[in-house]
Amino acid sequence: MANQRTVAVLGPGGTGGLLAALLSRSGHRVLCLAREDTADVLRRTGITVRSAQFGEFTAPVEADTQLREEVDACLITVKHTALDAALTRIPPATLGDALVVPLLNGVEHPAALRARYRADRVAPAVIRVESTRVAPGVIEHGSPFTEIDLAGDAVPRDRLDALAALLDAAGPTARTTGDETATLWAKMAFLAPFALLTTRYGLPLGEVRTRHRDELEALVAETAAVSRACGAPADPARALARYDAFPPGAKSSMQRDAEAGRPLELDAIGGALLRAAERHGVPAPVAERLVRELRDAGH
Ligand SMILES: NC(=O)c1ccc[n+]([C@@H]2O[C@H](COP(=O)([O-])OP(=O)(O)OC[C@H]3O[C@@H](n4cnc5c(N)ncnc54)[C@H](OP(=O)(O)O)[C@@H]3O)[C@@H](O)[C@H]2O)c1
Repeated sequence: MANQRTVAVLGPGGTGGLLAALLSRSGHRVLCLAREDTADVLRRTGITVRSAQFGEFTAPVEADTQLREEVDACLITVKHTALDAALTRIPPATLGDALVVPLLNGVEHPAALRARYRADRVAPAVIRVESTRVAPGVIEHGSPFTEIDLAGDAVPRDRLDALAALLDAAGPTARTTGDETATLWAKMAFLAPFALLTTRYGLPLGEVRTRHRDELEALVAETAAVSRACGAPADPARALARYDAFPPGAKSSMQRDAEAGRPLELDAIGGALLRAAERHGVPAPVAERLVRELRDAGH
């Protein structure tokens, strides 16, 4: 394939495994960076995807525990709780000119990546999808959509557009957005209230939005105020309308992590929200209490 690219994927789980398999299926060379056991499985079996949107298929991938060669782009798809340990698999010198594309939720990781890699090659993205790694190399993709917004204020626009086009051609709806802060906070402003409330009360969204309506509205308003203070537009009424349109049984991934006894991305979402609130002098009493209660509960 003339325009074949080489893409590394650090952490081939729910999101990374899905994107790795789609990129491989569309003809690109995909190099998964994973723990030894997972890398062994991926080399032998490839990645199998069961998807409402893309059908069921298995795609071959290469796999290693370290990046040992130059690539065109490296997608970072571990959870925040594993980020520091996982990044040791990508030596900055090997990465060279590659785009570094974190798809993590949260707003603070781009700065950490810019401190480690070329600042003008870090292109943060947000992904809207529901995808789960049910076993190493086996991905269940439940949402009928996969949408990626790619940003990166310091990254040359043609590099962003080329990567968005490559991802889009592989299946997801991908586009370049103009403003990194707005892109990251748009996701954060929706996610933080959903994640904190569903996890704190152990209830699906349908019950949160009825039984804890006042708290939901207050938290959405707080998050919007913090988002605006950070320089991103926010529309609390639209956020509430989106929660109301969701199926009542919807659960956040933080809540699913809590139910499974896995570490939560609480600091990357709730903690980052509180740090931004404090930095800008925006009161966030509901967020503060929920984060404290979740921490007190051992998370
Ligand atoms: N899943 C979704 O639907 C979704 C949607 C939107 C945003 N996000 C965000 O995307 C990010 C990733 O979430 P996810 O659900 O894709 O996570 P995930 O399914 O848990 O996948 C993370 C992957 O990272 C790997 N990993 C962990 N520690 C590692 C290390 N030290 N070295 C190499 N690999 C390591 C895990 O490997 P093993 O397989 O070996 O355990 C796993 O495959 C999170 O910030 C999440 O909030 C997820």
